[in-house]
Amino acid sequence: MDETVLEIVKKAVKKLSINIDDPRLKSIIEIPKDRSKGDFAFPCFSLAGTMKMPPHEIAVSLREAIGNPPADFKDVVVEGAYLNFFIDRKKLAINLIKEIEGKKNNFGRSEAGNGKNTMIEFSQPNTHKAFHVGHIRGTAIGESLARISEFSGEKVIRANYSGDTGMHIAKWIWCYRKYHSREKLKNSEKWIASIYVEAVKKIPKLKKAQDEVEEINRKLDSKEDPEINKLWEKTRALSIESWKKIYQELDTHFDVHFFESDVEKRGREIANELIKRKIAKVDEGATIIKFEDENLGTWVLLRKDGTVLYSAKDLALAEMKFNKYKIEKSIYIIGAEQSLHIAQLFRTLELMKFKNADKCRFIPVSEVRLPTGKMSSRTGDNILYSEFMEEMVKFAKKGIKARDKKVSKPELEKRALAISIAAIKYSMLKQSSNRNIIFSKEESFNFEGNTGPYLLYSYARASSIINKSKFLGELLQNFDLDEKEAEMVLKMKEFKNIIEKAHEDLNPSVLANYSYELSKIFNEFYHSSEVLGSQKENFRLHLVKAFSQVLENSLYLLGIKILERM
Ligand code: ARG
Repeated sequence: MDETVLEIVKKAVKKLSINIDDPRLKSIIEIPKDRSKGDFAFPCFSLAGTMKMPPHEIAVSLREAIGNPPADFKDVVVEGAYLNFFIDRKKLAINLIKEIEGKKNNFGRSEAGNGKNTMIEFSQPNTHKAFHVGHIRGTAIGESLARISEFSGEKVIRANYSGDTGMHIAKWIWCYRKYHSREKLKNSEKWIASIYVEAVKKIPKLKKAQDEVEEINRKLDSKEDPEINKLWEKTRALSIESWKKIYQELDTHFDVHFFESDVEKRGREIANELIKRKIAKVDEGATIIKFEDENLGTWVLLRKDGTVLYSAKDLALAEMKFNKYKIEKSIYIIGAEQSLHIAQLFRTLELMKFKNADKCRFIPVSEVRLPTGKMSSRTGDNILYSEFMEEMVKFAKKGIKARDKKVSKPELEKRALAISIAAIKYSMLKQSSNRNIIFSKEESFNFEGNTGPYLLYSYARASSIINKSKFLGELLQNFDLDEKEAEMVLKMKEFKNIIEKAHEDLNPSVLANYSYELSKIFNEFYHSSEVLGSQKENFRLHLVKAFSQVLENSLYLLGIKILERM
């Protein structure tokens, strides 16, 4: 509705020849906390400067310019410095419910993005290492943003990028050959990570280990040793294989998977070109960029021995993304600890006059910590995905069995996984990505808090009402809205603006918190109002159905699967 408000204000402003652009006008419109003050408000304070008039007088002039309010509105009233807009709520309810019932899963979708190609790079585990809890956060944010962008009319290419070369591989191979060569290679994320962790622990304690690792690294680089090459290929494939189950559980997929080994060669070439163009220089054998901006410091592209570093590979990757995939926007969702690296990358792209430098965006993802003592990992500081998941699912099962004594085994497995994923993803999405999270298992499962399970529960509750009802005919118009119902309608009306905001800010937390507020209003309604058998059964059933559709669409955009029963 605030589009309509915007239109009204726009016309009035034009009539008065006030010079102000649409985005600014839009940003002034607000939703009053106290709904008795109106459904929307336009405060005039910020125009006082330009117009050299007291805000109240501006409000009065705007009100005059508006004239008769358009049909969707009951009234537009001046109060002090405010123009308050009162919507015809019944009309809104009828139109909105009809729209939701017509559009169903597509309610909220827009064409605004014009089919623009956007690449979203996220998740990015490395081969031969752990997929840990932190990776879940980036994966959840990436998948949600991908869905939000698609819903906003963009064409999204989901990209993954894994480190499959360099020292960490050499350490893994060293440890495997020395201590585990008789074991069969396993397609298990846990087993793969445990060997890496063992390597990291042992290498500093053994005299010759460091030299041995470096020797392996050199051979990996030169590809001269067939046995090492083969082991690398096999174990790399196992790592990749072990992620399949994880991505399936997290309900995500990738259209492209880049690897550091793909961009090594081009990375070296770019580094050398940058020397010629005097953007980089050779310093004690290494190829570096010394930035003018002191905050950016120095960036090493190639080591003294010529090995290509993470930095140079990222230059090649940026180039490949735009050239090969014809994208118009490139989003990087990466751990916040790499913020400096990304700033250096983006600055270098500018220095290179890379024409798409301004189309790259970085979303820093902060840490996920676990309360100490609990859920600590057997394989290092970072808790593994599989260990974490096992514990969550176990906890979820306890709850399900307590609620539903007769649940079948396959149903138990299915529900426990869905509830766990909802609990995890939601707790990671409700915070802005740049804030640290201390994850609490108990809190994330709380059915009464701001949690994923609370949202699923609200959905299941609405479903059960709908399922119990008999045939639901057309929406009849013989109702009047009470406060709770009006609140629900107005909140559902916000959905499109919320998606737009989440998309503009690249921030799913806007949508997560909206889903919570919407569910809270529904639950208040549920407790205070009878649906089945009430005089307003027809209207209320339609309202509940509309709510469950909007919540379903929100949950979809968060990457959370719905359940009919908890
Ligand atoms: N694999 C990297 C790591 O674990 C993250 C990759 C981030 N993406 C990028 N284009 N640098 O640190």
